Amino acid sequence: MNTSESIADPHPHYARLRDGAAMHLVRRTDEPDYWLVTRYAEARAALADKRLFDDDPVPPEFRPERAEELRPRIAEITAGLLDGFGDGGDLIEDFALPLAAAVITELAGDPGRSRPVADVIGTGMVTLFRHPPQRAALRARPALLPAAVEELVRFDGPLTRSAPGRATEELTVGGTVIAKGDIVVAGLAAANRDRRRFPEPGRLDLLRDDAPHLGFGYGRRPCAVAAPARVTAQVAIGALMSRFRRLGPAVPLDQLDWLPDESSRSLRSLPVTTG
Ligand code: HEM
Repeated sequence: MNTSESIADPHPHYARLRDGAAMHLVRRTDEPDYWLVTRYAEARAALADKRLFDDDPVPPEFRPERAEELRPRIAEITAGLLDGFGDGGDLIEDFALPLAAAVITELAGDPGRSRPVADVIGTGMVTLFRHPPQRAALRARPALLPAAVEELVRFDGPLTRSAPGRATEELTVGGTVIAKGDIVVAGLAAANRDRRRFPEPGRLDLLRDDAPHLGFGYGRRPCAVAAPARVTAQVAIGALMSRFRRLGPAVPLDQLDWLPDESSRSLRSLPVTTG
């Protein structure tokens, strides 16, 4: 499925797989065969299964309360970057990436994995550009930001699939027998739009309040810095909307420049107008 169409929007492809079966054997020339788990219940169960993901979970490095304490500092870094941002700027290169790198450097001293934060901001803004009523509602009610970020990550989160796990014994996932040694990958993006779990999964609903999506991983593979990553995305999206009331894409939304990587949803650039 490595066409530019499915890189721009992989969700129709995942919908076809998910409608067909909970498990798909993916055979490709560029990586070893693996089972992709496409439905929510099965993906969640797989991520919690020690027989598949037997490495020790990385404990969360930040409690949500501790991440909250960082909010003023994150807001300060955000404001500083936006002071230098204007019409024709690139939301990814000139804002989201430097913000994510600066925050993660302060937290962990290493900007190495900051990319998913930038992706939540960039892809999240594109999703909001595509949904003007929801965007207007969010601008009118900044208190919705935490729920909005969760919904944006469910709807089109930065990591479309988990890292591979390997079956340490024969087991059954979603009715399919997995042989010992087989590789299993949780299809996070596919599971996050499973209608068996999320009513009208293809609808962006910033008010979804019961949305335990898998976009930050789960079970034996939770994101170690989910709490500060969430706060950073909330601050960034809130600041962009309050500071630039006319913010919009400077290129047609069907011509965006996505990195050709099936495992992530990463924009290379997102030129914007600030009005
Ligand atoms: C909003 C931004 C982020 C999202 C949505 C996100 C999402 C995820 C997901 C889905 C996983 C599970 C991967 C798997 O199952 O294999 C994960 C694991 C992890 N993430 Fe994040 N992540 C974000 C930001 C970050 C950042 C900024 C860092 C570090 C600076 C980070 C560090 C980790 C670590 C250490 C793990 C666990 C180790 C592993 O299984 O690879 N994450 N994250």
